[in-house]
Amino acid sequence: MFYDRERELEKLNSVHSQPGSTFVVIYGRRRVGKTALAREFLRGKLGLYFFVGEKDEALLLEEFQEEVEKNLSGYLPGYLKPRFSTLEELFEFILDFSRERKIVVVFDEFQNFRFVKPSFLSSLQKLWDLKKDDSNLTLLAVGSYVGMMKRIFMDRKEPLFGRADEFMKLKPFDFWKAYGFVREFTEVSPRDFVELYSTLGGMPRYLLYLKRYYSDNARKTLNELFFDEFAPLKEEGFNVLKLEFGRYYRSYFSILEAVSLGYVTPKEISDRTGLKILTVGKYLSELTNHYEYLMREVPATENPKKTRKVAYSLRDEFFNFWFRFVYHNYQHIEEGDFEAIIDDFERKFPAFVGREYEKIVREFVRQINLGFKPLRVGRWWHKGEEIDVVAYDRKNALFMEVKWKDLTKKDALKILKDLQRKSNIVPLRGEKKYGIAARSIKGKEELREEGFLVVELEDILNQSPLSPSPLS
Ligand SMILES: Nc1ncnc2c1ncn2[C@@H]1O[C@H](COP(=O)(O)OP(=O)(O)OP(=O)(O)O)[C@@H](O)[C@H]1O
Ligand SMILES: [Mg+2]
Repeated sequence: MFYDRERELEKLNSVHSQPGSTFVVIYGRRRVGKTALAREFLRGKLGLYFFVGEKDEALLLEEFQEEVEKNLSGYLPGYLKPRFSTLEELFEFILDFSRERKIVVVFDEFQNFRFVKPSFLSSLQKLWDLKKDDSNLTLLAVGSYVGMMKRIFMDRKEPLFGRADEFMKLKPFDFWKAYGFVREFTEVSPRDFVELYSTLGGMPRYLLYLKRYYSDNARKTLNELFFDEFAPLKEEGFNVLKLEFGRYYRSYFSILEAVSLGYVTPKEISDRTGLKILTVGKYLSELTNHYEYLMREVPATENPKKTRKVAYSLRDEFFNFWFRFVYHNYQHIEEGDFEAIIDDFERKFPAFVGREYEKIVREFVRQINLGFKPLRVGRWWHKGEEIDVVAYDRKNALFMEVKWKDLTKKDALKILKDLQRKSNIVPLRGEKKYGIAARSIKGKEELREEGFLVVELEDILNQSPLSPSPLS
């Protein structure tokens, strides 16, 4: 079963339908579905899939030769068995072959060429420059280590700098896509799905675990996936990130842990980790811009370039959970002190889901028709006050509060009243509108009649964000 990725496939197919050669780079974090996408794209096309394992050149070439033979022998004279003694020969053969016929070539885990044969990257560049104009090759370089892939193609000092025609960052499924994906193989209650998505994110590989690990209780599933003796995802943060960060991974890890615990400003992170503020600044900038694991948020009304009010957060739901509940408790996990882990999990998980639910609601607000097209949608905070969703253009402003709870009408009205008070501190003018989102809200219709935007989980799930219809 291959699910969705329609936009990515459309893009790749449109590139491939052009005559000539194109160099496409697909990168994205481990497990996000890069290999599956490349294979799906290859289906039914003349093409070659090469997995660049960390082996020596000769062994790799043996595998590559087999792949060439399997797919291209029908196009080669019967007596000609492809034999290559170097990667360069293989690549030159492909470029020459594609003079006559359009072909796709995938190098999966492309960054491994750096270990197999670093000089191949500059040979590849030379051959490409020399022959691409006379050939018809769609070349896909697929890679997992975001930092390393960016360095290979975006660093001026690297031979392949400037050679990529297209960059595609493959992202996890969004909330709605992830829900559709999971429902292909598991029945899941909407509430449980929010808890599971908050933890696993839209990562196909992790969501697929639900096939075996979910029956009817999200908490139980999470315990088995992360904390049990043989929990399959317990080590996942190490497996995925250690190689990305290399030797200094400990400092990166302690910063990510601090952020997941709610230390979100450079000062707080520095105090928490004991790293100097300048060092923290450097790491934060790398983690945000280069590695793309962190996000830098500012209050929705502030200029992101000028303001000093910044808050960092983890982009990835999975890492956010893993650092907060697994890495943070690693000592307990190693000692088998499950009570301490479960205690932390039970006490802090609801608030954790609450923050993820806020993110889902903001995404929902971006997608629906509010009656105006917001310039920005975001969080807002000032001193001790905070508003979960603020969306505005020059003439309108929407303020919303989000609760991962079941609310009575009375609860809702109380929250809305306080929201109105807080909204007066926000430096926005124009028509003001107020809203509330929760798991469920009693008296929803009446509240809507009073002019509030009222959103329950059911509204979020039933409404494909791509077909907006106003709620009010
Ligand atoms: N669009 C999809 N539809 C169905 N299953 C998918 C899809 N994308 C990925 N998967 C499944 O999720 C798992 C992880 O995907 P895949 O191996 O393609 O990820 P990757 O980005 O190549 O990860 P890695 O870094 O581990 O190589 C696989 O079992 C794959 O079959
Ligand atoms: Mg892969």
